Amino acid sequence: MESELDLSERRLSLPTIWRVIGGMGIAAVALCLLAAALGSEGPLIFVAMIAGIVALITFGVIITSIVGLSRRPDDRGFFAASLIGAIVLLPVSLLSSLIAVLFASGPAIAPWGRPLRIRGKMVHPELRPGGAWAAGPSPEVDGLSPATREALATLWHHDAQKEHASVPAFSRLAWLLAGLGAPAELLEETHRAGVQEIDHARRCFALAGGYAGASLTVEPIPEILQAPLGVGRDPLLAVALESLRDGCLVEDFNADVAAIAAEHARDPAARELATIIARDEREHAALAWAVVAWCVEVGGERMRRAIAEAADDLPKEGPKAYADHEAAIVAAADPQAMIDHGRVPAERWAGIYARRRALTCARVKAMLAGAPATDAARAA
Ligand SMILES: [Fe+2]
Ligand SMILES: [Fe+2]
Repeated sequence: MESELDLSERRLSLPTIWRVIGGMGIAAVALCLLAAALGSEGPLIFVAMIAGIVALITFGVIITSIVGLSRRPDDRGFFAASLIGAIVLLPVSLLSSLIAVLFASGPAIAPWGRPLRIRGKMVHPELRPGGAWAAGPSPEVDGLSPATREALATLWHHDAQKEHASVPAFSRLAWLLAGLGAPAELLEETHRAGVQEIDHARRCFALAGGYAGASLTVEPIPEILQAPLGVGRDPLLAVALESLRDGCLVEDFNADVAAIAAEHARDPAARELATIIARDEREHAALAWAVVAWCVEVGGERMRRAIAEAADDLPKEGPKAYADHEAAIVAAADPQAMIDHGRVPAERWAGIYARRRALTCARVKAMLAGAPATDAARAA
């Protein structure tokens, strides 16, 4: 510990270190705010790391100052000032790191529609009692235990929230495509997809309400009203990369899960809904591939390189079947009844995602090579 105290008498003095740490802390907070405003995940992860390092160093300064106060009475004023400053900076840097991580990660649970991302975080509406969004067949609930009904209501309401969020996600895409001068067919398909997501949301609310015994509806989504377009300085590239990840990969994956759900569902309403979702999500994935192809056509070599790199960087971990806090509710349900009512067991999701990710990467390579896009999943 003596060697740390001796720093105050060398060229790299403690006051210098303190100024560097203070500067890093301010930079971390500023970067966090900037990255959050830009709505990009990459810088947020960087900011989280920097803020975390600052917090660690600040913790070291606190220890050093406490030791200095007890062993160096002559420098008591300096060590006291360091201690107070570090105590103030520690929570600021920890909070900055936490905020950046929260903005960067967002919940990775996204069946069945196209994710709505605002500042890099997935957003969906909260729920309240009401029937304004419920329209569609109800399930047969006779013979289901209360625990199974609760689990089915929870998961189908969760899907209803995500389907609802897909509607503004497609509105935003249509807005961006119009701004970029995209062909009429892409805009037409994008608007059609948004209307299909409204149908999915309504049907999910109706089905979920049937299990719950009461309908829920959506709260306003104030985040949308404040949301920037979030495309940075290169909107064409942003649309291409978003379409690859959220459309080509996620919506095709959603279609895979829904197709399996439809295959095994025994309840007529759940089977009908899963069948519709599987069909429509596959169309939405096809739209995303068309958007990516158009972006490559317009963007040229620069876009080809970016898409090739993005395909390699597609997330290795896919969406989960349900959130961690929902695990206990699902565990209490009858597993076979869950399958009968359109839920694919959680343990199957990772394998379905890995296969879809591999198919997506292969299709990107084929597209960029100029070969006709083939997809083994279509034949399977
Ligand atoms: Fe969709
Ligand atoms: Fe959908």
